[in-house]
Amino acid sequence: MEERIEKIKTEYQNRIQQAQTLKELDEVFLALFGKTGEITLLPKDFSSLSVEDKKIVGPLFNQVKIELEKAIEERRNEVREESYKKLETEKFSLQLPKLQAKERKGHLHPLTQLLQETIEAFEKLGFQQFDAPHIDSDYYNFEVLNIPEGHPARNLWDTFYLDPYNLGSQPGRMLLRTHTSNSQIRAMKQLGTPLRIMSIGRCFRYEAVDARHEHTLDQFEIVYVDKKVNMANLQYLSEYFLKTILGKDIKARMRPKYYPFVEPGAGVDGLCLFCKGKGCRVCGGAGWLELAGAGMIHPTVLKNGGIDPNEYSGIAWGFGPLRVAMLKYGIEDVRSFLSGDLRFLEKF
Ligand code: PHE
Repeated sequence: MEERIEKIKTEYQNRIQQAQTLKELDEVFLALFGKTGEITLLPKDFSSLSVEDKKIVGPLFNQVKIELEKAIEERRNEVREESYKKLETEKFSLQLPKLQAKERKGHLHPLTQLLQETIEAFEKLGFQQFDAPHIDSDYYNFEVLNIPEGHPARNLWDTFYLDPYNLGSQPGRMLLRTHTSNSQIRAMKQLGTPLRIMSIGRCFRYEAVDARHEHTLDQFEIVYVDKKVNMANLQYLSEYFLKTILGKDIKARMRPKYYPFVEPGAGVDGLCLFCKGKGCRVCGGAGWLELAGAGMIHPTVLKNGGIDPNEYSGIAWGFGPLRVAMLKYGIEDVRSFLSGDLRFLEKF
């Protein structure tokens, strides 16, 4: 019996020391002192002991019982103290748990990226930005650019007029600008000579939309007026722009093209990347994609801008960033850029 009592003592002392929570200690307490606990039931077996043995076992039992009770009580206090300490060091946070949704990081639209690169490239050459309105008059969009009312060249631009029912000749007629060239005369008048501006922004055409044509498009226009500016400057600026944006390997050509506000006029084409010049849907079978219109500013336009064409000459040049972006990123269909389709935009 003595051994049994000693065994209970060592076994439970261990369990008490190992207990980490008040709950565990309660369980140990019940296993000892509960209705069917080891300490509770033990005295039942004392009846079979001799009087001699009872004299030894009785006090031993009482002592162990008290020791175990005390040990449980002490360990309870320790566990409590430990949990208070944890509370002191633990930082309580009022923040909500982090959202589970996958974080989405946005980026600039590929066209915006391309325009920013272009702006940087021309700022280095001393060109300043100059804005002109999206909704403009017939006067600035056509007339002062040497395209008077009734001039057949107006058919080059399919125009959104803001008064579609009043198609007769009307000097103040308003429209959505068809090109950034509506900045030319304003810039000449406001800034004078020498002039180096870039005008960037949305233009609108009453176009049938297809793989190469959008009704809403950006243009990037350069106007450079100074003494002795000539076609070589134009050639240089075109190459500088294309090489900066599209890389050294770009193949471009310049060919004569008619615009009423330049003389001589030129078209700048880039070799179609998709068919390598063979002709395909993207380039409309031409093998080349038309990227820009350009030329020496017509003397009449300089005069309209208050500049003496005998003293000054100028070049103007209007690129279609959408077309350039098609070549830069290898996009076959211009409509993708304005589609807002995230599957497309996330590739950049
Ligand atoms: N404004 C012309 C267009 O939209 C392009 C151009 C700009 C041509 C400047 C010549 C000089 O087609």
